[in-house]
Amino acid sequence: MKPLIDMHSHIAWGIDDGMPSMDDAVKSLIQAKNDGIGIILSTPHCVPGQTDEEGINAMYARQKELWILAKQYGIKVYPGAEVFMNDFFTESLDNGWYRTINGTKYLLVEYDVTNDIHTFSDRDEWLYEVRIRDMIPVLAHAERYFHKGVDWDIVNQWRNDGTVIQMNRTSLMGYHGDLIKKNAVELLHAGMIDMVVTDTHRSFKPRWEMLSDAYQWIETDMGEETADLLFRGNPAAVLKGEAVTHPSGKAGKETWLERTKKLISLR
Ligand SMILES: [Fe+2]
Repeated sequence: MKPLIDMHSHIAWGIDDGMPSMDDAVKSLIQAKNDGIGIILSTPHCVPGQTDEEGINAMYARQKELWILAKQYGIKVYPGAEVFMNDFFTESLDNGWYRTINGTKYLLVEYDVTNDIHTFSDRDEWLYEVRIRDMIPVLAHAERYFHKGVDWDIVNQWRNDGTVIQMNRTSLMGYHGDLIKKNAVELLHAGMIDMVVTDTHRSFKPRWEMLSDAYQWIETDMGEETADLLFRGNPAAVLKGEAVTHPSGKAGKETWLERTKKLISLR
């Protein structure tokens, strides 16, 4: 059985609000191993306006330590960062104070989950700033930004602009409430989720190194091919800087692919 790949984890200790200590990181590596996760992308928070060159270097130094530690537990760690999109975002991009996913063109970015997506006046502008620098945005926990249900215009725009879309396992398993779970299921069924991740912050549940329950949920609901794409195929492609394959969604629901075909036929 090929290992599961976790493309979002705050497992590197002592540098953000994630893992507090090396002991916790070790517990998390063991937890990951037991759950069938063999590859982890380390994504510490990078907050424009707070994280400068020194912060980026400190992050990378810790990720190197984590890489060595993880080897002892049979886990491969790759370096990345989760860049927060705020008023200083463009400035940080100009200064190079960020880190792409494993040195590829893919940049993991997030909006502030505490506000509804419609409140960000620079919502599209920020993603545009990533693209014009020849990078591809990977949007973290897309399902968590819709506080009143999914806005399909926004999601379609992301898809059409080539944004890669991540979903947190905890959203699907109901840890963020019924609305976020509903968003997660609808996005999955529409074929809009490209990968499912842990967004691990601690060595204990819920945001810990576990993917197997979400994998099983998706395998049962949407089939093995989709589950493999979201937990192995697409993560592996992004780590290599290759193109992702958008899932076809669930039969019976109008998927992104079907909607696109319909739009083309209308022209
Ligand atoms: Fe995160």
